[in-house]
Amino acid sequence: MSEIKIGVNIDHVATLRQQRFTEYPDPLTTAILLEQVGVDSITIHLREDRRHIQDEDAKQLKKLLRVPLNFEMAATQEMIEFAKELAPKYCCIVPEKREELTTEGGLSLKDPSNLLIDGIHALSKSSRVSIFIDPDPSAIETAKQIGADAIELNTGKYADAINQDSIDQELDKIKESASYARDLGLSVHAGHGLNYINVNRIASIHAIEELNIGHAIVARAIYDGLGRAFLSMKEICYGARND
Ligand code: PXP
Repeated sequence: MSEIKIGVNIDHVATLRQQRFTEYPDPLTTAILLEQVGVDSITIHLREDRRHIQDEDAKQLKKLLRVPLNFEMAATQEMIEFAKELAPKYCCIVPEKREELTTEGGLSLKDPSNLLIDGIHALSKSSRVSIFIDPDPSAIETAKQIGADAIELNTGKYADAINQDSIDQELDKIKESASYARDLGLSVHAGHGLNYINVNRIASIHAIEELNIGHAIVARAIYDGLGRAFLSMKEICYGARND
């Protein structure tokens, strides 16, 4: 039985940096720390408004990481050109709206645009292409038809569901979709909104090869690391008086 892979989305680290335009916290240093503890991949989303990850972050991560880089991007001409040049292991195409706080729902594949189809074709020359979609059989079929190598199933609705029936319903959709996509020959990834409480039932789905988790892990790092961070500062401040 193979272990599920876990990729970490480090956009949230860049968000903290961009709030002050400081040099820290640095996404590259963060990714290297994660590599040292066995992360399977690193995910970044270069948004049109550059609110967190910057072009240079993407280039440095691609150059220096040993684990695969999963590059989330909107299907725009600008991003397709950037991603062709970057040539990450994975390009994951996501919907993007300027006003959203984070990606809201999977990409609609009801009527895929020529830009999307041509973009997938062009990106496939240097990367494996994944599409972030809701757990819906027709979207999976379209993803396969238009040449995706993988899908990332949106677990956001499962994560947001508030009563047991809707949690179970969303989970069933994810389970069925994961098996269906795998049987069509697609690699199956999943993510969005997963945390230390809700991840268990998703991680138990064998058809899912890889999870992509960001916010909960970066948030947990505050609890796990804040004590040490405070003590380091205290040492410097107390040391300043003892010199
Ligand atoms: N997958 C996709 C496509 C995403 O856009 C995001 C968030 O940027 C994630 C996974 C990770 O979600 P979270 O930060 O909620 O774990």
